[in-house]
Amino acid sequence: MKVKGFLTDVGGASRVSKARLAAFENASPVPEKVDPIGNVAREWHPGKIDLVVTKVTEITKTTKTIRFERKDGKKLPPFYAGTFMTIDVPMGDSLLTRPYTISSAPFEARLEEHAFVEISVRRSKGDGLICDYINDHFKVGDEFKGMIGLGQFFYEPLRDAKHIVALSGGIGITPFASMAKEINHGTLDVDLTILYGSNTSDDIAMKDELDAIKSSKVHVVYVLSGDEPGWTGERGFITAELIKKYSAPDSSYFICGPQPMYEPMRKALAEIGAPKRRVRFEVFGQPKDITKYGYPAELADQTFNLTVVRGIHEDVIPAIGRESLVVALERAGIRIETGCRSGECGFCRTKLLSGNVFISPISDGRRAADKDFNYLHACAAYPTSDLKIKIPIE
Ligand code: FES
Repeated sequence: MKVKGFLTDVGGASRVSKARLAAFENASPVPEKVDPIGNVAREWHPGKIDLVVTKVTEITKTTKTIRFERKDGKKLPPFYAGTFMTIDVPMGDSLLTRPYTISSAPFEARLEEHAFVEISVRRSKGDGLICDYINDHFKVGDEFKGMIGLGQFFYEPLRDAKHIVALSGGIGITPFASMAKEINHGTLDVDLTILYGSNTSDDIAMKDELDAIKSSKVHVVYVLSGDEPGWTGERGFITAELIKKYSAPDSSYFICGPQPMYEPMRKALAEIGAPKRRVRFEVFGQPKDITKYGYPAELADQTFNLTVVRGIHEDVIPAIGRESLVVALERAGIRIETGCRSGECGFCRTKLLSGNVFISPISDGRRAADKDFNYLHACAAYPTSDLKIKIPIE
């Protein structure tokens, strides 16, 4: 049987081979202009694209939603609800790349006309400089380059439960707004319960939108920690008890909010016995105070010499202990590609040639081989001595 099967295979292969030879012989020497597979790949993964601002909406006193469309009028690349985009923002002589979670839904990026993508940016939280700049200066008609659909913070049916409990605070509501709109559109099949913590009702970002997207599959529970008279919703902070109250027998937990929220949420989820495989934290950028994560406090204000090798160029720039190497490079006007700024995506991968760094333990997304061969993610590395790095040439 085996011999027969083998001969059948050989016979089949030789027939295919003849057919392929004939195809080669009859082929035109001129390269085919039609490239359907390449066209799909380019449409779905176009890299950086040219975007134009088409709408700016003030959604709270401190938050604006910025809408972008593609400059060439085409649809935007597909993305998962919950992921983020980057935009390159020119600041003085520098071009700074910043990540922002997409608050619009994936289906809105694939509309036949005026397909769009939106981010909602709150003032002076996170990397305040750029957030304030966006709030103050972005206007209709402005053009930027950006990359759409990065990150791992999305529903994956093979991994996640069909009921998601979203634990959110501040402007961390944006990925859940995107998911909620996609669910109501019928293109994301999960149940979503959002617990959204704020101090006062005035601090609730996107409230009108959230109220409009409540449905049989999307529940929004506002939780106010401030003493607001007349408030009839949940009060206090998001606790283990509250999370349990709104959980299904099998839920996945997605957490996105300000940095101080993460540790209490981790503890609360452990308290209710949520399995680790059901818990997902959105990356939150660079820690505000790296000494809280083990960086030596006595070095935090020291300035080190950072030698930067780019091709045949070498520059020596100052690098302050408490700031990541990415910040030192940007401060010196040296361009380095960034995406997540949280150690996850690898866009800022850099070779350490000499000297020492502290790697943020909460943002160490390097592969094992990179660790062995002295590569680091510059957004998650902090100098502890004079050092020399080699960065890619743009
Ligand atoms: S920007 Fe993503 S790892 Fe540094």
